[in-house]
Amino acid sequence: MNDFRDELVFEAVEKELMRQRENIELIASENLVSKQIMELAGSVFTNKYAEGYPGKRYYGGCENMDTVESLAKERLCELFGSEYANVQPHSGAQANTAVYLAVLKNGDRVLGMSLADGGHLTHGHPLNFSGMNYEFESYGVDRDTETIDYEAFKEKVLAFKPKLIVAGASAYSREIDFKKMREAADEVGAMLMVDIAHIAALVATGYHQSPVPYADFVTSTTHKTLRGPRGGVIMCKQKYAAAIDKAVFPGMQGGPLMHIIAAKAACFGEALKPSFKEYVKNVVLNAKALENSLKAEGFRLVSDGTDNHLLLIDVNASCGISGKKAERLLDEIHITVNKNAIPFDTEKPFKASGIRVGSPAMTTRGFTEEDFIEIGKIIAYRLKSEETEEVKAECIRRVKALTDKYPLYEGLTYL
Ligand SMILES: Cc1ncc(COP(=O)(O)O)c(C=O)c1O
Repeated sequence: MNDFRDELVFEAVEKELMRQRENIELIASENLVSKQIMELAGSVFTNKYAEGYPGKRYYGGCENMDTVESLAKERLCELFGSEYANVQPHSGAQANTAVYLAVLKNGDRVLGMSLADGGHLTHGHPLNFSGMNYEFESYGVDRDTETIDYEAFKEKVLAFKPKLIVAGASAYSREIDFKKMREAADEVGAMLMVDIAHIAALVATGYHQSPVPYADFVTSTTHKTLRGPRGGVIMCKQKYAAAIDKAVFPGMQGGPLMHIIAAKAACFGEALKPSFKEYVKNVVLNAKALENSLKAEGFRLVSDGTDNHLLLIDVNASCGISGKKAERLLDEIHITVNKNAIPFDTEKPFKASGIRVGSPAMTTRGFTEEDFIEIGKIIAYRLKSEETEEVKAECIRRVKALTDKYPLYEGLTYL
């Protein structure tokens, strides 16, 4: 067997470990997985082909694959109270693709939230397969409240008469009322798909209204608030189970990533434990603490705050700089964020007027509300000060004081 160790690659991985240890990670769609999830994602399951589903595989030797995939499906259904689950989608985008493939024909009408207002590319953006293959119309947020206006949403549904409505978002900080969306869908006999990629952990633990009773399909990623390996899942009513399975395989994918499915099973196991609810409670409290800290520093927040794990900061209105510049300034002091368009943004997406920040990763690391208040102050100091070496050094020192309190992956090294 080849026992050559590729030092070039391991060096980059070691550097990434250092970066994660040194940085305050505020990207709302990222998290820090447990050691068992990393171990399973790198396990011997990566060697195995298992096309098909438990008990119905196209390859021999799948008995251990069946055990783990069945466990993942059962746990996911238990976690969300859903009737059926498919855990094979390689990512969130694949999960959404599979639902479209299962129930739509090219050219069918779909209503989704616009990317500019917080939706996702797979919810009908013209540059994405969804926008290319289906006739998408978009809904957004109200200009004044910067939240979804359910009356306007219903009017759109009645006028457009979509076959499918896609709910859920990538950059929306307020609770979404899936019940109201179902009621609107019923007016025109539309199906409802809810993409909970971002809020999955909040839904699983009761910190956000669950779409499961109202939606025909619920899709998610497993690597954001849910804190599992990088991947996707689909939950649905039993009546759609066969169509969904067929759309995922053989419709859209080949062999499932069984090492990732093993890690998903462990992720769902972790999420069923009481300690996970405590983590989600802290995710929400910490996002609120950051909101209060930023407001005290005079920042304008889109929709004036948050109900979930993320915040959109209007850095243009607050400090007269673009999202792109804010991202760079914070990167230089070891705070990682992403630039993000804000509703009705006048800047191009690559520059953007806002940044998106979230609490999941640092909550996992152990950060408290007090720490998030300090993060808000550091962000304000950096973005509202002159760009000097003194300010930069002072910010780096304060970031280090926080990260030093919570060691990450102690004892781990790749060299
Ligand atoms: C709402 C939503 N859906 C789907 C996705 C796509 O997930 P992935 O990057 O795993 O394809 C994302 C990712 O950011 C998302 O925010």
